[in-house]
Amino acid sequence: MKKVTLKNGRELLIRKATVNDGEEMAKFKMCISGESDFLSFGKGELEITPETERKIIDFENGMDNSVIIIGLTDGEIAGFITFEGETRVRKRHRGEMGIAVLRKYWSLGIGGLLLEVLIEWAKETQIVRKIDLVTRADNETAIGLYERYGFRKEGVLTRNLYIDGIFFDAVSMGLVID
Ligand SMILES: CC(C)(COP(=O)(O)OP(=O)(O)OC[C@H]1O[C@@H](n2cnc3c(N)ncnc32)[C@H](O)[C@@H]1OP(=O)(O)O)[C@@H](O)C(=O)NCCC(=O)NCCS
Repeated sequence: MKKVTLKNGRELLIRKATVNDGEEMAKFKMCISGESDFLSFGKGELEITPETERKIIDFENGMDNSVIIIGLTDGEIAGFITFEGETRVRKRHRGEMGIAVLRKYWSLGIGGLLLEVLIEWAKETQIVRKIDLVTRADNETAIGLYERYGFRKEGVLTRNLYIDGIFFDAVSMGLVID
């Protein structure tokens, strides 16, 4: 658990999600799905309910190489970062990261703080040795943020997303944990 004062003076509490966060998580995901076209899902595409969220959190909390970390301000989830580790022996040292912050909280440093906490968590697991992610090639803010934390571009995935009749390339990025 970590408490930080944000640039706007409000306090951010960063901790692992628990099943009790199902309701807030559902609200958060409904919001982010409609706030940008940089995620792999859009508004109304996923079944998002407190119950589905509780199940996801419960499942991820049962894995030793996966995590959902949330950043809360006044009880509201302002941002989250997820890491889903693989299950096979030859691949469980790696997994995919996801991150999103509510638009009203962008540029306050929450994304960076969540990344810091995830990298710390990954080191502590002594299992995770590589954090991979995929982001839209034109998501400059996210790419800049990832690069500042040591992620390197590893390749371009063409036609990775199809949104409103347009294909978007994505970049694959990775961070080695040693
Ligand atoms: C990408 C995202 C998570 C960043 O979250 P955030 O809380 O705004 O991130 P931060 O405030 O820590 O950093 C982002 C900004 O601060 C700047 N920044 C961060 N750390 C910095 C540092 N140490 N020095 C200088 N600038 C810094 C970044 O360049 C960026 O600039 P801008 O927003 O002012 O243009 C957020 O924009 C988001 O949720 N976007 C939509 C979903 C998305 O794209 N998710 C990623 C999909 S792979």
